[in-house]
Amino acid sequence: TMVVTESQDKMYYPPDDLKRDAHVPDFNSYLALYRKSLENPEAFWKEVADDFFWKKPATGPMLQYNFDVTIGNIYVKCMEGAKTNMCYNVLDRLVRERNLGEKVAYYWEGNSPDHHMAITYSQLLSQVCRCANVLKKMGVKKGDRVSIYLPMIPELVYTMLACARIGAVHSIVFAGFSSESLCERIMDAQSSVLVTADGVYRGEKLINLKQIADEALEKSNIMTDFMSGICSLFWCVQTPWDSECDVWWEEVMRDSPEECEPEWLDAEDPLFILYTSGSTGKPKGVLHTVAGYLLYTSLTFKYVFDHHHDDVYWCTADIGWITGHSYITYGPLANGATSVLFEGIPVHPHVGRFWEIIEKYKVTKFYTAPTAIRLLMKYGREPLQKYDLSSLRILGTVGEPINPEAWQWYHEAVGKGRCPVVDTFWQTETGGHVLTPLPAATPLKPGSATFPFFGVEPTILNEHGEELEGEAEGYLVFRRPWPGIMRTVYRNHERFENSYFKKFPGFYVTGDGCRRDKDGYYWITGRTDDMLNVSGHLMSTAEVEAALTEHPAVAEAAVVSRPHKVKGECLYCFVSLKDSREFTHTLVEELKRLGKIMRRILRQIARNEKDLGDLSTLADPKVVEELFSQRCEAA
Ligand code: WTA
Repeated sequence: TMVVTESQDKMYYPPDDLKRDAHVPDFNSYLALYRKSLENPEAFWKEVADDFFWKKPATGPMLQYNFDVTIGNIYVKCMEGAKTNMCYNVLDRLVRERNLGEKVAYYWEGNSPDHHMAITYSQLLSQVCRCANVLKKMGVKKGDRVSIYLPMIPELVYTMLACARIGAVHSIVFAGFSSESLCERIMDAQSSVLVTADGVYRGEKLINLKQIADEALEKSNIMTDFMSGICSLFWCVQTPWDSECDVWWEEVMRDSPEECEPEWLDAEDPLFILYTSGSTGKPKGVLHTVAGYLLYTSLTFKYVFDHHHDDVYWCTADIGWITGHSYITYGPLANGATSVLFEGIPVHPHVGRFWEIIEKYKVTKFYTAPTAIRLLMKYGREPLQKYDLSSLRILGTVGEPINPEAWQWYHEAVGKGRCPVVDTFWQTETGGHVLTPLPAATPLKPGSATFPFFGVEPTILNEHGEELEGEAEGYLVFRRPWPGIMRTVYRNHERFENSYFKKFPGFYVTGDGCRRDKDGYYWITGRTDDMLNVSGHLMSTAEVEAALTEHPAVAEAAVVSRPHKVKGECLYCFVSLKDSREFTHTLVEELKRLGKIMRRILRQIARNEKDLGDLSTLADPKVVEELFSQRCEAA
């Protein structure tokens, strides 16, 4: 069904110079490899695994699974019986076997343009080993969880790889999260160590991470130990300190040995937990395992960015999100890539910062989010014209649907019409790209994530779970696993099964709506559940509602999404107060509830859509009129 035919949509074809030495140089090669990956996954993934180091070979098949809850428990296993180590594969293997020790792994670029450094693969390896020894000395053992609350500094990469080296499970918490969010994640993971920094500047704003971390620990009750990292820069922050449990990063690293034997793990041992919003409000600890995640992130990185040895690759995401885990740390390192690691924000100290960095490091592959593109679009083309962007060859986007206008701007103003835009659809749960173009092979349609990656078999279902062929719109699901798919929700396998496999037995349910056009292209249409996507960050309405109702004045809260020019979607909150409280904009006070809030109606009010249909189930339909009349235009 995936034939590219004559189409009404404007198509963008891969440039010839990219095709010349591409890994997948045309659409037929993509199709042939794709068919192989589905017809003979065993051979396909074995070949991928051959590039890596296995202390012990697998005894089981490349993939085993059950996706059908009516048959039994859901499970996915990759390369059962094999023993390996992620850190060994992304560092030692390259330094020892590929002689890449002197190659730059990261160009670190600070929030301030005056702060920067280059880190080679062998330097990275020795820092990681030292950190691994520090963790071991603190009593961290295989299987223990380590929470990491660090900004985008090299220490973040050192710590995560140190965990991977000793078999500890890292749980990174984005350093923009509150103490409540951090506390909740530390408690759920039952971490024994927390690695943080004293503080960080994001743009002009100072964030006192250590203080927030202390607040989080006060709220939690399970910490036995606490390690405080400090970035080697010199922010003059008054750092709260408890010498009973806090230690300075630099002090413990200084004396720590540079040799550390990797812990040989089972292929299905956990690598990390990363929390993602769940539609019930409580975040889900998405668990990824060693071998499958290694195979999948390395392969997607290689093909989707058509990686070559002399590339300089830059992904602007934060490592606190899955995009950073897969495409700043593991995927690029597994390929021996040189990446930019950027601490700052796109508009500091000026709105041309991204373009300045691309020129400075001669970035060839650039990966960012639609929300960043839309933000930078606002400043026009002038900031771009000051910089030489001719090194760019491939552009990528991730995190949310990209509107055609932003796509065109990215393609024309940033890529000068020369660089394919790979619109990569995936999730924390999928571990890596699942729908994506390949830059030298796939004709592009702006706004479409195009076709499935190798090993991925998407289909579209209607409300009754019936598969829709040809042109269709419905629920996006996957019929079988690929190596990098999540294995469970940490300590809650039942929630894993309920969230992703209950609705349509036999399928992994993404939670996204999707349309397949007559040429077989997939178009993500947005979430089908009570989740929303603000600036590429997924959140649940329930989570926000829970936060609002924690305020003593609030009786009830209902939150819906509403389109936003830059952020994609934004929150529109309806709040009702407790009896004795006064509220100047008495918005939702009189809203009577009948069992549940009619979210559909609220959403329509937020979007000012007047045709509301049947309101008979509302206890007091007059309320709707009132809400419309008091509707405010948000920025
Ligand atoms: C959305 C981010 C359209 C989608 C990697 C998905 C996208 C959620 C795209 C996952 C894209 C991500 N086009 N929508 N290219 N990429 N999404 O877990 O709704 O933070 O389910 O992972 O983002 O967000 P998450």
